[in-house]
Amino acid sequence: MQQLSLFDDIEPQLSERDEILALRKELEEQNYNYYVLSQPIMSDREFDEKMHRLEVLEQRHPELFDPKSPTQHVGSDIVTTSSKSKTGEGFEQVAHRYPMLSLANTYSEQEIRDWLMRVYKGLEGQTGVEIVCELKYDGLSISLWYENGRLVRALTRGDGVRGDDVVQNIRTIASIPQQIAPDQRDSMPPNFEIRGEVLLPWEHFDRINRQREADEEPLFANPRNAASGTLKLLNPEQVRARGLDAYLYYVLGENIPGTTHFERLQMAKKAGFQVSDAIRVCRSVEEVMDFIHFWDTERKTLPVATDGVVLKVNALAQQEMLGYTAKTPRWAIAFKFAAEKQLTQLHSVTYQVGRTGAITPVANMQPVLLSGTVVKRATLNNEDFIRSLDLHEGDYVWVEKGGEIIPKITAVEPTKRSADARPVQFIRTCPECGTPLVRVEGEAAWRCPNDSGCPPQQKGKMEHFVSRKAMNIDGLGSETIDLFYEKGWLHNIADVYHLDHDQIAALPGFGDKSADRLMQGLEQSKQVPWSRVLFALGIRFVGETTAKKLAKAYPSIDLLCAATVDELTEVEDVGEEIAKSVAAHLQNADNQLIINRLRDAGLQMESSEQETRLSDSLSGKAIVVSGVFRYHSRDEYKALIEAHGGKNAGSVSAKTAFILAGENMGPAKLEKAQKLGVQILSEDEFLDLIQMKQTT
Ligand code: IVH
Repeated sequence: MQQLSLFDDIEPQLSERDEILALRKELEEQNYNYYVLSQPIMSDREFDEKMHRLEVLEQRHPELFDPKSPTQHVGSDIVTTSSKSKTGEGFEQVAHRYPMLSLANTYSEQEIRDWLMRVYKGLEGQTGVEIVCELKYDGLSISLWYENGRLVRALTRGDGVRGDDVVQNIRTIASIPQQIAPDQRDSMPPNFEIRGEVLLPWEHFDRINRQREADEEPLFANPRNAASGTLKLLNPEQVRARGLDAYLYYVLGENIPGTTHFERLQMAKKAGFQVSDAIRVCRSVEEVMDFIHFWDTERKTLPVATDGVVLKVNALAQQEMLGYTAKTPRWAIAFKFAAEKQLTQLHSVTYQVGRTGAITPVANMQPVLLSGTVVKRATLNNEDFIRSLDLHEGDYVWVEKGGEIIPKITAVEPTKRSADARPVQFIRTCPECGTPLVRVEGEAAWRCPNDSGCPPQQKGKMEHFVSRKAMNIDGLGSETIDLFYEKGWLHNIADVYHLDHDQIAALPGFGDKSADRLMQGLEQSKQVPWSRVLFALGIRFVGETTAKKLAKAYPSIDLLCAATVDELTEVEDVGEEIAKSVAAHLQNADNQLIINRLRDAGLQMESSEQETRLSDSLSGKAIVVSGVFRYHSRDEYKALIEAHGGKNAGSVSAKTAFILAGENMGPAKLEKAQKLGVQILSEDEFLDLIQMKQTT
């Protein structure tokens, strides 16, 4: 026994240390996903619970204190890493005048009561303590600076110490005054700061997601992600079109009149700021609880998302007495509403095959009403998720619809599991074509590798090919693709250009007009520029932006096909994973056939002459570029060779006109060049040849 209790003492200590380290890592990752990528991977509730657990563990182990722990700082949403980037892109980073803290939060009414007791105790028995209750808006916080009554800066929270100045985007929000009206100048001092929440109202959120669905872009999971993604856009006109709004809830600065938080908010409201009316000065625990209960249901009628109630000590002098911890004020706390959840039974797990072959398991459940909508399906993400739920056939599952629009299974109910229930087994062969699935190490998804023969992958690739941002072919929606696929007219993207007008016109519901329109759409698509054709090919990991960058570095399909993985990684933002995927796609025999057929159909497989042709001085010359350069990147030199009529060759041969050599040219190339007597040109000599002055 003695022995056991000794182990009991040591074991938890060791595992708690590990747990602390693991939680810190996990929470940092979530902070990054949430604030920087606007794509959280864990629910708010899970995040809050993990943070809470970390706080408890850190308190128990002061020897493991780390100022860098996520409990000690707020998550960072900073987009730029330096101050204003050279190209003028990104946002200028500016230090906050007052650190931008977050709020302690809880889901427990008891903890709200405990907090109130701590407040009363901290105020040493002062009577008549007032608590202002407000709604907790679920957007992203913003700090607005006014100087001489004019809006001059708008900083995101950033890391709490510095934020991105997004003032140009904020100026597009109609409810934020650019300037305090002259007749209101007396109510606010000339210089002040006001903080609040930027939100995307439900109405606009729904509209944008509908549009994104039509454009086949990923949907925003909730209005908060949509708002934060919007505020990080670099083009204010795009921001304006999204329709952001803002509620303000905190006034700061020197010489601001008023002795209470509530008074200051009313002044701000008079000065033209949107301050919510859902606000109440409470004088007892009961009043606070009433406010919370009332708004837990009533909030569903509001035009914007809210996720709780914020409680703040009203008197500024009392706020000061209570002070701050490293991360949060002691004079405020947030009560978060629990996400609505329901228990329902799992009927089956089915599997969807995406355009890239990724298999997504889907739970089919007994339909259940959740936040006003009937829910019967929920994604199970991947095999690991199913394992972590310990999902068994016929299980009762908890379904939640919180801040997220898409319902989620958050847990199974073990007490309702039948004794003989079997664990859900992830499939090992493709449900559509029977091919054995593969799972690449480090990836969560299982995939069907039969990309050229698996029906949903074939159809998905065609849908992508004809979509608006790719070839933009009118008259070929997903239903038509399905139909033509079933008829055996379409197997891959190249077949699109071999559709027969008369066959289509003869189909019920089509006729000459539809067939004409489709033929016209196909004809017009032949003018779509090379970068979009490249995007349309549907190479894994090659989105619109990457396609543009690749097309710029490799102005023709032939050049791109000749590029090695190493060369491809030299293109901006192209990492090894993308480079490997491009090379594998282009080296695949089936794909080569498709590309040749597309070329024969008349698609733009190279940048148009006018765009790139500068002279014919290198006409007909095959040139090899090797080494590291001073004035231009290797890709720029390749583009220059093309622009002057030359051809880029991957390896040295007797046909090579010359080698453009930088520092550290590959020894094998050098040896071969010497053997074959191929001329070697330095950077300066080359630039002279094409009559270009070097730009240092
Ligand atoms: S007051 C020092 N009031 O919630 C106190 N914050 O989880 C500053 N939030 O970072 C915050 N509604 O972005 C306050 N009525 C409200 C709020 C609110 C939403 C956000 C804010 C804050 C976060 C903390």
